[in-house]
Amino acid sequence: MKKIGLSIFTAIFFLNAGYMLFFGRETFQVKPSAAQTSKYLYHFVLISEEIDNEYWRLVEKGAKAEADKRHIHLDYIGPKQANNEEQLTLIDKAIAGKVDGIMTQGLSSEKFNYLVNKSVQKGIPLITVDTDAPGSERQVYVGSDNYRAGQLAGEELVKNTQGKQNVGIVTGRLDASNQQLRVKGFEDVLAKHKRIQVTGIQESNITKSGALQATYELLKNDADITAFFGTSALDGIGISQVTSQYQSKRKPYIISFDTLPETMALIRNEQINATVGQYPYQMGEKAVRTLLSLKIGKLPPPLQYTKTDIIKKTKPTLLWRASR
Ligand code: BGC
Repeated sequence: MKKIGLSIFTAIFFLNAGYMLFFGRETFQVKPSAAQTSKYLYHFVLISEEIDNEYWRLVEKGAKAEADKRHIHLDYIGPKQANNEEQLTLIDKAIAGKVDGIMTQGLSSEKFNYLVNKSVQKGIPLITVDTDAPGSERQVYVGSDNYRAGQLAGEELVKNTQGKQNVGIVTGRLDASNQQLRVKGFEDVLAKHKRIQVTGIQESNITKSGALQATYELLKNDADITAFFGTSALDGIGISQVTSQYQSKRKPYIISFDTLPETMALIRNEQINATVGQYPYQMGEKAVRTLLSLKIGKLPPPLQYTKTDIIKKTKPTLLWRASR
């Protein structure tokens, strides 16, 4: 009798133990992260100023190519239309989603600095791309030296114009620090040349239609504008659309930014005189490489500048390379 009791007890004991082991594991098991369950090493996020902007799509392309090579899962996100609040919300969501690293355009605001701090506190490295935010705790900046890029535009305008010049500036966004630096670099160069005056500045909100509107405004306020500077990727295109409609005696000198296909076509047709080349594809590639080196404990120098140069019709090989 005793023996039977013992066997029943042992059987119940093992049944129970098995049950606990199985269901306990199911209940308390910590789910592995997305990166662990898939073939990816890390999950990075790239946050742009505007998701479908052609320039940012090139940054994405470069980042994606590099991420694929290095087994990194890349998400590319951004506001539908440039909007700081939305951009900040996306950064916050990426932090909440516990991604492994964040690459974002830098913003100049307290809220941005707060989010960078939050990200770093949570162990998520964050770097700025295209636009820096040196006042924040971002670990590295990857992108153009925007002040120098503005100077390049100024120097080119000085070299290629003669006599009195009234200059109108169309800028992407007045509160974006990369745009401010470009304008500052440009104006600092012109300040040394009395014959050249900046007579107005208008915002395009980084859209082509905004650039058209901004150009009309500039011409309304000063019909004698002889030269234009467009400081973001679609500004030169908008400027030249307006100026080509005016059958003015003097064709204005136009210097733009970036090498989007439409800009390059306008350079070939001599509607835009020159453009400041940035290398968004390379920015994307370099940003991923930089974030990866932060993940493995290396701290690269905080300023990782990508190339900027002047591109015009006289350099056919560069024209081809830049429009890649
Ligand atoms: C700037 C970006 C901006 C883009 C807009 C580029 O020149 O570097 O910050 O988002 O223009 O089209």
